[in-house]
Amino acid sequence: MSHDLPDIAAALVARGKGLLAADETPATLKRRFDTVGVPSTEETRRTYRDMLLTTPGVSEFIGGVILQDETIHQQGSDGRPFAKMVSDQGMIPGIKVDAGAKPLAGSPKETVTEGLDGLRERLAAYRDLGARFAKWRGVIHIGDGLPTRICIVANAHALARYAALCQEQGLVPIVEPEVLMDGDHTIERCEEVTSEVLRVVFAALEVQGVALEGMLLKPNMVVAGVDCPVQPDVDEVAFATLRCLRRRVPAAVPGIVFLSGGQTSRLATAHLNAINRLPGSKPWAISFSFGRALQDDALHAWRGREDGVHEGRQAYAQRARLNNAAALGKYTDESEETLFTAGANPRRELHDD
Ligand code: 13P
Repeated sequence: MSHDLPDIAAALVARGKGLLAADETPATLKRRFDTVGVPSTEETRRTYRDMLLTTPGVSEFIGGVILQDETIHQQGSDGRPFAKMVSDQGMIPGIKVDAGAKPLAGSPKETVTEGLDGLRERLAAYRDLGARFAKWRGVIHIGDGLPTRICIVANAHALARYAALCQEQGLVPIVEPEVLMDGDHTIERCEEVTSEVLRVVFAALEVQGVALEGMLLKPNMVVAGVDCPVQPDVDEVAFATLRCLRRRVPAAVPGIVFLSGGQTSRLATAHLNAINRLPGSKPWAISFSFGRALQDDALHAWRGREDGVHEGRQAYAQRARLNNAAALGKYTDESEETLFTAGANPRRELHDD
C-alpha cells in the first residue's frame, strides 16, 4: 500500500467533513431529473454538476467528491476539468468504479456487483485524471429468504478484490456494502443482516490483504424497511447502528461514512447527529457520504433553471454545513430553521421528526 493512503483517508473525514456522492450514472440521474421535470442530457448533467462543484465555501464541510465516469471526463463552465475544480477548492476527487449490480447466478432475485475485469487499468487511468479515492457498491436485499449466503459472499469477495486493487494503484477504497431499506422488515432484521454482511466483508478484506488504515467503510444505517409498520425513532436507529458497527468494524478503519439510502435529508442528518452524540467508544470518524440526502434540496431549488443556480448552491452548502455539524454531534433541529426551504423535499418522511 502506498504510504499516503492513510493520510488521504484521514483528510476525507477530518473535522466532521464528509463526502458528496455525485456519482449517479446517467440512468440514475435521469430518474432524479424526472422528479423536477429536467430533461437528462450530457449538457444538463454537466450543468447540474457544475452548480454543485462550483459552490463556494463547502470545503469546510466536504472532504471529497465522488464523481462518475462521464463527469470526470467533463469540464466545468470555466473550462477546468471537474476533478481539478474539486482539488482547486481543497477537496479530494474520487470516482465510482463499479459497473453496477447484475443478476446473480444461483439466486436470480439478487445481484452481484460487477466491474473487476480490467479494473487495474481503469484505476490507473482515473488516478492520472486526478482521482485519489474510489467507490464500489455491493447491494443486499432483505426479503423472504433473502439475503442468501451466495449473495453476501459474492459481494464481499468483489468488494475485497476491488479494495486490494485500489490500494495497489494508490487509491483509497470506499467499501460500500448497502443493505437496502426497501421492504417491510423490522429494524432488528436490518441489524441482523447488516451485522452478518459486515462480518463477511471484513473477513474478505483480510483474506485479500487490504490495509484497514487506508480505506473507508460506507455502510447503511440500521433502520426499519420503509414499509415496516413499526418505525423506530431517531435514538433507536442511532443506538442499533452504533452497536452493530462496534461489533463489526475494526478500530483501524479511520472512518465510517454513511450512505443515506432513501432517507429524507433531514432524517439522515438527525440520525448522523444522534449516532455521534451517543456515549462510549467510537474509534472511527463517523460521517456522511450522502447522495440524495445532500443533493435533494439543491436539485429542487435548481429545477434546471439558470436563475435557480444560486438557490441550488445555497441549499447544497447549507445541507453540507448541517451534516458537518451532525458529524461533530453539534446539530440541532433549530439549525434547520435557517435552511433554505424553496425546494421542498418530495420523498415521504419515514418518521415524524
Ligand atoms: P444515497 O446517499 O442517495 O444512498 O447515495 C449514496 C451512494 O453513493 C449510493 O451508492
